[in-house]
Amino acid sequence: MKIVTCVAPINMAVIKYCKCPWLIFYILTRCEIFFHCFLGGKRDDDLILPINDSLSASLNTHVMCAKTTIMSSPNLKENKFWLNGKEQTFNSPRLNSCLKAIKDRCDQSLPHLNWSISICSENNFPTAAGLASSAAGYACLVYALAKLYGIEGEISDIARQGSGSACRSIYGGWVQWHKGSSPLGLDSIAQQLFPANHWPEMRILILVVNDTRKKYSSTIAMKRSVDTSTLIHHRANRVVPERIQTLSRAIAEKDFATFAEIAMKDSNQLHAICLDTFPPCVYMNDVSHAIVSVVHAFNEYKNDIKAAYTCDAGSNVCIYLLESEVQDLVSWINYVFPKSADITQQEYYRGLPLEQRNMDKAVFEGLNITPFDVDLLKYIIHTNVGDGPEVLKDEQAHLLDDNGCPKSLHF
Ligand code: DP6
Repeated sequence: MKIVTCVAPINMAVIKYCKCPWLIFYILTRCEIFFHCFLGGKRDDDLILPINDSLSASLNTHVMCAKTTIMSSPNLKENKFWLNGKEQTFNSPRLNSCLKAIKDRCDQSLPHLNWSISICSENNFPTAAGLASSAAGYACLVYALAKLYGIEGEISDIARQGSGSACRSIYGGWVQWHKGSSPLGLDSIAQQLFPANHWPEMRILILVVNDTRKKYSSTIAMKRSVDTSTLIHHRANRVVPERIQTLSRAIAEKDFATFAEIAMKDSNQLHAICLDTFPPCVYMNDVSHAIVSVVHAFNEYKNDIKAAYTCDAGSNVCIYLLESEVQDLVSWINYVFPKSADITQQEYYRGLPLEQRNMDKAVFEGLNITPFDVDLLKYIIHTNVGDGPEVLKDEQAHLLDDNGCPKSLHF
């Protein structure tokens, strides 16, 4: 019997990824001979290939992470998979692509290669809150499989086949996903640009918006955008290449103002593309837009760019800022988005400790800033840049018991 348990980080993109349907990738790379000879002209969206490079930070796994235990044993009758305590089908194409890619890459004489496996995965943050859970989940799955089957070397191309953004969660710190040019995606891989401790003052606040609206899957939205938006192609060809260069330099030099301006502009452009998509996909809501306005007002008040918002495929807003600004910005957020007294401090402020200091009300009144209704935010997560996936050595950490069943089930 073999068992391994790992944790992996979520990542927050500063330059966002957009996916390329296979057919467009083929046209872009003009690999006609390859396409017809080797793939028989088959349309194949499974590779998850992007149309532009992207860049993100992996976030501290002690605050938010996916945790996965995988057991392989000759006594297991069939493959099983539990996510957050609920059994899932093992027939997911993405799960099977990752498993197949890992098995193809490992030593074919391994005795446990043909044993069945049990997979149990949990996120320590709400999966439905739109907080990049698939990136952490697939990075963790692929990392744990690689450990189980003794694979060394590059695995971000395999994590990518589970969820595009998962390839960036294979590394800690600041990570670039190179779009690559190989039709099979062999060079569409992630690379660590700087380790987690490169810019130790960087902090991230995630403002989880109280929003019950159903989200569009980013897979469907991205396909629709590539098919109907003209802005997405301008962005991929003209905007992103230059932004990646400038952003990498800003991170290297710890130039927060340049970093922040690119982060905000790139997020705005992603959501402009969502509106340029036909029919449009709307992810940000009025609260997300109000947070964006607060960040701009805060920067204006500080007479410098001190905070940067970025939004993914949902209404939550992530704010990058330096440690020295956290207390001030949180006091602004507390004033503009008050919480009701029945939500406890522990429920509302999560992650790294947050020192509370309320700004003088007169400052806000002088700036003509007025509070919204209570409880427009669900909670705030305070975190920082962290390391990549790791194996947990402690046997207590395993999510599966000796029979390959989850130690706890949720109903
Ligand atoms: C908006 O990686 O979740 O967060 O590849 O279909 O699983 P799939 O999509 P996913 O898309 C995330 C897109 C984004 C931007 C980003 O993280 O780069």
